[in-house]
Amino acid sequence: MDATWKAGLEDVIAARSAICRVDGEAGRLYYRGYEIGDLAAGVSFDDVTHLLWFGELPTASQQAEFAAGLEQARGLGPDIVALLRSLPPTCHPLDALRTAVSLAAARDPDVGSSEPDANLRKARRLMVLIPETVAAWQRIRTKREPVPSRRGGSHAAYFYYLLEGREPSPELARVLDVVLTLHADHEFNASTFAARVAVATLADLHAAIVSAIATLKGPRHGGANEDVLSMLLEIEDPARAEAFVESRLGARSGLSKHERANPKARMPGFGHRVYKVDDARARVLRGMAKSMAEATGRERLFEVAERLYDAMRARTTLPVNVDFFSAVVYDALGIPPDLCTSIFAVGRVAGWCAHALEQYADNRLIRPRADYTGLAPRPLNVAARV
Ligand SMILES: CC(C)(COP(=O)(O)OP(=O)(O)OC[C@H]1O[C@@H](n2cnc3c(N)ncnc32)[C@H](O)[C@@H]1OP(=O)(O)O)[C@@H](O)C(=O)NCCC(=O)NCCS
Repeated sequence: MDATWKAGLEDVIAARSAICRVDGEAGRLYYRGYEIGDLAAGVSFDDVTHLLWFGELPTASQQAEFAAGLEQARGLGPDIVALLRSLPPTCHPLDALRTAVSLAAARDPDVGSSEPDANLRKARRLMVLIPETVAAWQRIRTKREPVPSRRGGSHAAYFYYLLEGREPSPELARVLDVVLTLHADHEFNASTFAARVAVATLADLHAAIVSAIATLKGPRHGGANEDVLSMLLEIEDPARAEAFVESRLGARSGLSKHERANPKARMPGFGHRVYKVDDARARVLRGMAKSMAEATGRERLFEVAERLYDAMRARTTLPVNVDFFSAVVYDALGIPPDLCTSIFAVGRVAGWCAHALEQYADNRLIRPRADYTGLAPRPLNVAARV
């Protein structure tokens, strides 16, 4: 057995995949061969989802068929609404979402089958269930009624409608659409990998998505998104950004490695396992954050982010990641910090499902080994136990 190991599986190739390519040296990202900036500029999130699942952008008739399939899945079940109403308002939105997906599994007519057709039907239902649940829980916990489902409109516009109870302007719908596209997939990130590990045991698709949502929550992954917005709001004044960076990074020099690993001793939104330079998504989001902040009068928060970014550039080589400027876009959209990671999930479920379908299609159990560092075999002397 090869006894070499890499902490955190860094740079380890865990499987083959034809969905997404990350070029960490150049800061580039491709879905099925298309560059992310080109997709964000010219293709809808609905079409990107089709691309991720089926390998190609849809033709006009495939587009209509795909939209009809998603539309058919619309409408949050009364059991999910009742479940959400039973949760304490302090329940984190991602925990509410994870719980709702578990309940949805219990009454899904295809839960017992992982045949390709059944999986596609479930993937469509999950694509819709996730934004519907995120929006319904946001309304319920803020003492508003969930908005009934409606027909028509893009996936992004439908989500906004459910969240706010009114149609978005075409510009707003487009912003949300691009945000979802930018978050739709990212190769073997932790939540997608968790989903693939679940699928590899031949657990069902809902089980895989529950694993993914649970894994997304941590501050090393999607949870950083809400930490960024909380941090920017806490700093509040652009003039304080530099001192904030100085104190956080400066304090690190006196800490042990274990203490330095605490998320409170790191700058959320910076650093990445694969990217060595700012990633392409962050570049698109930075431009969107600026124009959204100007359009909504939230320039001050954008300015805090810009000053923070400059201060980080001056002190470290850590690249900025997708969670940093997306937080400014969410703020401009009126999204509170603890809802940010749920918006991430609304986009990423497209990728989770694509990877799950790929894993089911050519599966082998994912079961690595540990490099054992414990005690050598030793005799058990029961009589000598005190
Ligand atoms: C994303 C992340 C988890 C990648 O981690 P990784 O590849 O495992 O890198 P490590 O955690 O081993 O970090 C390597 C070094 O860089 C430092 N580092 C990495 N990200 C940092 C950050 N955001 N702020 C300060 N220092 C950071 C680490 O402290 C470590 O230095 P140390 O050994 O002296 O303590 C990490 O960069 C991070 O925690 N970022 C902040 C959270 C975040 O934005 N997550 C979203 C990712 S899309």
